[in-house]
Amino acid sequence: MRSFAGRDILSLKEFERAEFEHVFQVADALEPIARERKNTDIASDKTLVTAFYQPSTRTRLAHEAAMHRLGGHVTGFSDAKMTRAGDFYQESIKDTVHMLEYYGDVLVMRHFQQGAPHEAAKWASIPVINAGDGWGEHPTQVLTDLYTVEKEMGSVDGKTFVCIGDHRMRTMHSIGYALSQFDAEMVILAPEDMSPTEEFLAELDEKGTAWRIVDHIDEVIGEADVIYMEPVVQPDYTQSHQEKQDEYGMTPANYQITRKVMEKAKGSSIVLHSLPRMDELLPEVDNTRHARYWQEAYNGVVMRMALLALVLGKME
Ligand code: CP
Repeated sequence: MRSFAGRDILSLKEFERAEFEHVFQVADALEPIARERKNTDIASDKTLVTAFYQPSTRTRLAHEAAMHRLGGHVTGFSDAKMTRAGDFYQESIKDTVHMLEYYGDVLVMRHFQQGAPHEAAKWASIPVINAGDGWGEHPTQVLTDLYTVEKEMGSVDGKTFVCIGDHRMRTMHSIGYALSQFDAEMVILAPEDMSPTEEFLAELDEKGTAWRIVDHIDEVIGEADVIYMEPVVQPDYTQSHQEKQDEYGMTPANYQITRKVMEKAKGSSIVLHSLPRMDELLPEVDNTRHARYWQEAYNGVVMRMALLALVLGKME
């Protein structure tokens, strides 16, 4: 297994089984710190730089909270409009990253352009973590999600993941790649205009991910171990920012999880949603035995602690 020290975390395409397992073990070792709400001095000599060109609540703040738990320092921007990258100058990623690498020891970047963190990694001498790039990938979210499945269900192996919602979405790409390393199936349920591309499905075949497409939730709800959700009413992820319109659609029932739908599910099945949600996941599900999205959000801090500690060389 390659060392994580100094490494970029850009994609789960090339992540190997042993690497998933190692990251989960490191997360387990660090989890008591988060549970006990302590800040340590594990990375007290290091600084995290966040560069967010697109809105975020969880991903940016979970990385920042994780760095605080590790005792490190945090700087960065959450609104590119207030930087030279987002004003008159439209400063390039190359020039921006040449600055940011002097300001800290690890860079976490979210961008509306697919591949932007990869471009940043070409110019940065410090590790770059992809916090979501356009419709591309969201590796730290999916590491969090699979860690949650491990903790809540014992193993990712043997599980049927029913992935519902917009399959152009970056989490859907990362989970498709990740599941190639496990004995698990990806069942795809999406509106026609949000279906996975032929290129992506060919990649899944090449990587060996077991997948199938279904048309209706009733076909699969009884088989699902993990119900993995994304909205279908959501912004265009290739834009830096999008205001909510006065008129916007409602989620069709076929892509909605309600208490009634969950009555047909296995008692042991869990619902994951990386959040934020619209009306595809009703609050009435929050108090059922299936809801694990708040646990998933907590694990988001734990997973980012593990990733930061690893790429900064503080854990082996
Ligand atoms: N899950 C997730 O990526 O949420 P944010 O957009 O709030 O970071």
